[in-house]
Amino acid sequence: WPEQAKLISEINALKKERDAVILAHNYMTPEIFHGVGDYVGDSLGLAKEAAKSKAKVIVQAGVHFMAETSKILSPEKTVLIPDLRAGCSLASSITGADVRLIKQRYPGLPVVTYVNTTADVKAETDICCTSANAVQVVEWAAKEWGVDKVILIPDEFLARNVAAQTSVGIIAWKGRCEVHERFTAADIAEMRVAYPGAEILAHPECPEEVLAASDFAGSTAAMIDYVTDRKPKQVVMITECSMASNVKGDVPGVDFIGPCNLCPHMKRITLENIRDCLKYMQFEVTVEPEMAERGRLAVQRMIDLPP
Ligand code: 13P
Ligand code: SF4
Repeated sequence: WPEQAKLISEINALKKERDAVILAHNYMTPEIFHGVGDYVGDSLGLAKEAAKSKAKVIVQAGVHFMAETSKILSPEKTVLIPDLRAGCSLASSITGADVRLIKQRYPGLPVVTYVNTTADVKAETDICCTSANAVQVVEWAAKEWGVDKVILIPDEFLARNVAAQTSVGIIAWKGRCEVHERFTAADIAEMRVAYPGAEILAHPECPEEVLAASDFAGSTAAMIDYVTDRKPKQVVMITECSMASNVKGDVPGVDFIGPCNLCPHMKRITLENIRDCLKYMQFEVTVEPEMAERGRLAVQRMIDLPP
């Protein structure tokens, strides 16, 4: 498509001019994911990349909490997001003040926070986690603090899914991902009848009965690895719709079927607003330095855990 090709070459030229790198989440549309992303990945991969990038400018092709995480890890860099309205229902489910109240209620327990949170929540956190490492982080925190329970917030479903895989007790919050909470066990049952041979992969932000009925649960990157390594004949990705579109081209012969949901926040990011973001250096994401310093400890602890 000539219009898209023109935007892609404009963006790639602007990246050089600005010494910028584009960190694109797996839920970006294919033209962003394949056309302009310098690094594509899940939340954990993007956080690691932000920490080691040498570029002066980071463009976060993702949602606001991801841009804040990049700023927390790279305070000297300019971090831009193409649309400031790209939020997340999990990040907006809890505030730093809520976390302080939880800590008062459960003194002495470590606070493990999903990266899908705002900087003020990260500042109240002992260690962050993503869907790729939540069980490992929870077990590390329990051992390090010498306790048998940890606070794991804010995703209620991720907390339940982690609880099913560990003997560590979990104190949860009631946040939900508005995209993944909509999948049901009935969706999976229908797919099993219609496509008996299909392999069903689901994101850990889904309700527990959805994961129980699926063949594999993992972060967005883990789902992509599953499909590229195993090349199932037919696959269902119970997650955001762009995932299947992005991975399709790399695995010819794999038939992607089944339901998916769109994340309206991720879909706010477009080639047009990425171009404008680099052209006009908008919209800068900043985090108050003292808050960033406290949040950095929590994110860096996660990054420093052995793989
Ligand atoms: P991942 O860390 O698996 O990429 O998930 C991020 C996210 O927002 C999923 O909804
Ligand atoms: Fe947040 Fe869910 Fe969108 Fe991910 S998919 S950014 S968790 S609302």
